[in-house]
Amino acid sequence: MIIQPRTRGFICLTSHPEGCAENVKKQIEYVKSKGQIVNGPKKVLVIGASTGFGLASRISAAFGSNAATIGVFFEKPGTEGRPGTAGWYNSAAFEEQANAAGIYAKSINGDAFSDEIKKETIELIKKDLGQIDLVVYSLASPRRTHPKTGVAYASVLKPIGQPFTNKTVDFHTGVVSQISIDPVSEQSDIDNTIAVMGGEDWKFWIEDLKAAGVLADGAKTVAYSYIGPELTYPIYRNGTIGMAKNDLEATVPVINDMLKDINGVSYVSVNKALVTQSSSAIPVVPLYISLLYKVMKEKNIHEGCIEQMQRLFADRLYGSNLSLDTEGRIRVDDWEMREDVQAEVAKLWEDVTSENIEAISDLAGYRRDFFNLFGFEFDSVDYTLESDELTTVNSLK
Ligand code: NAD
Ligand code: NA
Repeated sequence: MIIQPRTRGFICLTSHPEGCAENVKKQIEYVKSKGQIVNGPKKVLVIGASTGFGLASRISAAFGSNAATIGVFFEKPGTEGRPGTAGWYNSAAFEEQANAAGIYAKSINGDAFSDEIKKETIELIKKDLGQIDLVVYSLASPRRTHPKTGVAYASVLKPIGQPFTNKTVDFHTGVVSQISIDPVSEQSDIDNTIAVMGGEDWKFWIEDLKAAGVLADGAKTVAYSYIGPELTYPIYRNGTIGMAKNDLEATVPVINDMLKDINGVSYVSVNKALVTQSSSAIPVVPLYISLLYKVMKEKNIHEGCIEQMQRLFADRLYGSNLSLDTEGRIRVDDWEMREDVQAEVAKLWEDVTSENIEAISDLAGYRRDFFNLFGFEFDSVDYTLESDELTTVNSLK
C-alpha cells in the first residue's frame, strides 16, 4: 500500500508506518545524544504512551535511563487497505528499538479509564517488573466512560461566562480569520470536561497501583498541564479545559497523602505549547503556536516534545532542582513564558494577517510538525514506496 496524508480539518486520517518509525528513531537519537540521566527512573508505567508528551516521556525513560517501560494507550492497528493510527506505529517502532537495545518494553492497548485495563496493567507489572518507581500520566481524550457508574462524559472546549472572539488560522491554507466561540450554556459542560480531563482517573490509577503493592518505596508520579499566555486564557486556562487542569493540579496533594507511607510523591509539570493531535483541535492555539515557534526558534530556545521531556527528567524530576512555582508545579514552560518571548508573540499577534502570516510566523514549521505526527514529510522516507505495513503491525505484541 502507498500511503498519503488524508486530512479532514485538524485531523489526519492516515498514518505512515515507516515515517512514524523515523519520528521515534529521531527522538531516541536525541535522548541518547544528551547522555544518561543520573539516578533516573528504572521501572516506568506511562499512561498515554503512544504519541505526544507520553511517547516522549517513554523514550526519555527508556533511552535516557535504561528504564523498563510499560505503555498504555488507545490506538488502532492497520487492517487490509487501511493504515493504523500513528500511535500504533510509534509504539511498534518504539518496542522494536527498545528490544534491539535490550531494554524491556511492553504495551497494553485499551481504555485506560476502565477498571479492566488498570487490572491488566497491574498483572503485567506484577509478572514482569514487580514494582514500578515512576508513573507518567499523559492522557488526552475527548471522552471518558466512568468505570464505577458507566456514565459516558464528553469534554468541550469552550469559554466560560462570555463569548470569546479572537484571531485563528486554518493552518492548511494560512487564512487568518476572526472566530467567536459561545460560552458554555450549562454547568454540566464544565463538569463533563472535568470528568474527562481532570484528576479523578489519575487518582484511580494511583489508588489501584498502591493497593496492589506495585509502587516501589519512593515512587514518583507526574501528570501534565498547560497554562499559556493571557490571549488564550478565555479558551484555555479560564475555559472548560482550564477547569479540568485546575482539578488535575488539585489532585497532587490528594495523591501525595496516598503515597506518604511509601515515601512517594506526585507532581504536575506545566509543559510548553506544542503541535500534537490534541492541541491542533483547540481554536486559536495553532496561530499562537505558529508565532511562538517563530520567536523561540529565532532565540534558539525552541523545543519539541522530546526536548521538553528529556529536560523534565534530567533537570527537574531526577535533577538537582525541581524549581517549583508558588503553586508547587514543575515549569518546563519556563522558556515559552519568558517575558521577552511573550512580548514578541503579543506584538506579532496584533500584526498577523492572511497576507503576512507565512513571513512573520512559523506556519510552515507548524504544518511540518503536524504532518510529522502522522509519519509524513520526513526527508529520509521515500513516500512513493509501498509501506510494509503488516511487518510493522505484527511487531507489536
Ligand atoms: P496526545 O493526543 O499526543 O496523546 C494522548 C495519549 O493518550 C495517546 O497516547 C493516546 O493513545 C492516549 N489515550 C487517549 N485516550 C485514551 C484512553 N481512553 N485509554 C488509553 N489511552 C488513551 O496528547 P498530548 O498533547 O501529548 O497530551 C498529553 C498531556 O499533555 C495532556 O494532559 C495535555 O493536556 C498535556 N499538555 C499538552 C500540551 C500541548 O501543547 N500539546 C501542552 C501542555 C500540556
Ligand atoms: Na501523550
